[in-house]
Amino acid sequence: MSDQKKFSIARPSFNGNEKAYLLDTIESGWISSIGPYIERFEQEFARYHGVKHAVATHNGTIALHLALAAAGIGPGDEVIVPDFTFIATANSVRYCQAAPILTDIDPDDWNIFPEAISENISSRTRAIIPVHLYGNPARIREIMSIARKHDLIVVEDCAEALGAEYDQKKVGTFGDIGCFSFFGNKIITTGEGGMCITNRDDLAERMRILRDHGMNREKKYWYDFPGFNYRMTNMQAAVGLAQLEQIESLLSERDLILSHYQDAFSGNQMIVTQDHHNQRNVNWMFTIRLKGITEPGRDDLMNKLKEKQIDSRPAFYPIHRMSFYQTGGFIRSIPENSIRISSESLSLPTYIGLTREDIDYIATRVKEAIHVV
Ligand SMILES: Cc1ncc(COP(=O)(O)O)c(C=O)c1O
Repeated sequence: MSDQKKFSIARPSFNGNEKAYLLDTIESGWISSIGPYIERFEQEFARYHGVKHAVATHNGTIALHLALAAAGIGPGDEVIVPDFTFIATANSVRYCQAAPILTDIDPDDWNIFPEAISENISSRTRAIIPVHLYGNPARIREIMSIARKHDLIVVEDCAEALGAEYDQKKVGTFGDIGCFSFFGNKIITTGEGGMCITNRDDLAERMRILRDHGMNREKKYWYDFPGFNYRMTNMQAAVGLAQLEQIESLLSERDLILSHYQDAFSGNQMIVTQDHHNQRNVNWMFTIRLKGITEPGRDDLMNKLKEKQIDSRPAFYPIHRMSFYQTGGFIRSIPENSIRISSESLSLPTYIGLTREDIDYIATRVKEAIHVV
């Protein structure tokens, strides 16, 4: 019965070759960052995106750092990032001793948008990181034209948006580099894991070297500059390859969950979701905005859901609210939309296995709670 069921916010889905491939790595002894699954996963990931290179990393945060480091972002540089995103987007810029400029989002699609980006460009701006938040593509074509006009690097943060498309082209293939995460709650998972994709040979080569301590490609154990150990393990890649083999069904099952939620909430004026401009969004984590209910009311609602065994998650807090982003000139104007949408929004359980009955149950509990908050 739904009443007894516990609904977590996310769950991985392993219905393919995950166990067989993982066992293979253990039996072969190739468990660290050398082994056939790494190359196969990289090749298949590149093929899926129709790009030349894919460089696997140990997680999505360092994929972003690797991309920025390979692009030469460094001290004194500014990088435009959304104020409304997961903290790693902004932190990756700081790992390069550069300044993330926290930029407001569009109130309808919740992503950074061309006008706000243009306002924040200065003589120090070197790059933009558009995030396709909650699986919803940012207006990447227009963002790319601004970037080309100002000669800026674009690193797309696609951590939550594997499989999403803009004008029938996959996100991550517009910018200079696209970065992905394979954390346990992502579209595909490797436990922890990440990937950088690019069509640029120079950036791919630089990322491969930096990922491996900066080791010279011709001369083993000779280092030309201080790099990192950002490598993915063969065990992670084995799971990743098995997951990628199922990408179409994983996405379509998530689409079904999205349409059940949309049906369940349809007609309720108070509840809004991201506008996806008729683009191919992916249902990473179904997130609703409760118009007019602010943070305390939203948190109250989350507590009520918890009493009914339903986990939920507050939307990301605006990055500029974190103590270590409050000084240092990271915002140029108050990001009003980021503040409002963050405080009014929450994510609901989104994982394969949720039935229409489960979703109706969850949506009914949300609607009941709204009437009493
Ligand atoms: C938008 C965004 N960027 C970056 C990351 C970082 O990925 P990871 O958790 O794999 O380090 C995440 C993952 O949670 C994310 O949601």
